[in-house]
Amino acid sequence: MMKTTIPSPFILSCLLFLILCGLSSAQLSANFYSKSCPNALSIIKSGVISAIQAETRMGASLLRLHFHDCFVNGCDGSILLDDTPTFTGEQTSKANNNSIRGLNVIDNIKAKLESCCPGVVSCADIVAVAARDSTVVLGGPSWNVLLGRRDSTTASKSAADNNLPAPTLNLNQLISSFSKHGFSARELVALSGGHTIGKARCTTFRARIYNDTNIDPLFASALQAICPQSGGDNNLTPMDPTPTTFDNCYFRDLLKQKGLFHSDQALYNGGSTDSIVETYTFNPFIFAKDFADAMLKMSNLGPLTGTRGQIRKNCGKVN
Ligand code: HEM
Ligand SMILES: *[C@@H]1O[C@H](CO)[C@@H](O)[C@H](O)[C@H]1NC(C)=O
Ligand SMILES: *[C@@H]1O[C@H](CO)[C@@H](O)[C@H](O)[C@H]1NC(C)=O
Repeated sequence: MMKTTIPSPFILSCLLFLILCGLSSAQLSANFYSKSCPNALSIIKSGVISAIQAETRMGASLLRLHFHDCFVNGCDGSILLDDTPTFTGEQTSKANNNSIRGLNVIDNIKAKLESCCPGVVSCADIVAVAARDSTVVLGGPSWNVLLGRRDSTTASKSAADNNLPAPTLNLNQLISSFSKHGFSARELVALSGGHTIGKARCTTFRARIYNDTNIDPLFASALQAICPQSGGDNNLTPMDPTPTTFDNCYFRDLLKQKGLFHSDQALYNGGSTDSIVETYTFNPFIFAKDFADAMLKMSNLGPLTGTRGQIRKNCGKVN
């Protein structure tokens, strides 16, 4: 009896497949920095805590920064790249100009990380962890951020203009905007619950308080007092009655036609998402769970891994 020891072409191609998979399976993982920078997570957390101690609103700003990073070509730190005379990034896009905050907080955390573990922790990972830590500090749910995102070497203003939703959107437009990134209508509603913290400028809700009809009249007139028909563009109002606490008041207010943006009230305006808003109003734990799950999903959008991108030394510019 002859017994061949030569592996069959089938076995060989299986082996090759496994090897290639192994090489290209640069994936995010929870313990990515456990050997290369064991204090990374605690350094980020203390940076977030002290920033929120200095200004509570910063927790909201850091949550939004992560959203605006991830919806534009994935969570790759692209939003952090500053404009230069020869480069226009995302910071002056429609939704970000005069609006995004928290860049200094990320820079300060990055400086601490660079002194401990130079060239190891990406700016995109700092933003992702800071968003989670901010949510937790303000009383919201936690999620296990996976790590190992690398930083982009470019940014796109037009992608930011096209992907960051405007507060004038209606329900169909919101559903379509979020479905482009793989989110269901339920996830859209859960993520919109991020509007339970922070503040907004008059220019973002003026059209709603003067022209919308699905708005509580007393709520509208109170806002008109701080947001005139013209001028006062940067006057601020809280996103919900408890803007420093991550709770479900945002949804309770939608039931009372007190959504701040047209896009907020669109989630509860006789359409398909009404029942989800009601669920989150009456079951804060379901909201907390759905929000955490959707944030984890958002934080995994299109990361650069393996040898793609770089670990920026300074979050505001390419190495
Ligand atoms: C659903 C579509 C969304 C629209 C149309 C929208 C729009 C806006 C606008 C116009 C502002 C005020 C900005 C300013 O006044 O400068 C704002 C603030 C904010 N947004 Fe959204 N947003 C959306 C979804 C989200 C999501 C998914 C999150 C996070 C999970 C989020 C978190 C925040 C936070 C925390 C603030 C307050 C930021 C601060 O105080 O600095 N938003 N949003
Ligand atoms: C951004 O805001 C600044 C200051 O208000 C303004 O001068 C500039 O034109 C805006 N840029 C864009 C691209 O809208
Ligand atoms: C409200 O609608 C009217 C009529 O379309 C328009 O002229 C006005 O500029 C709008 N006001 C705001 C604040 O959007």
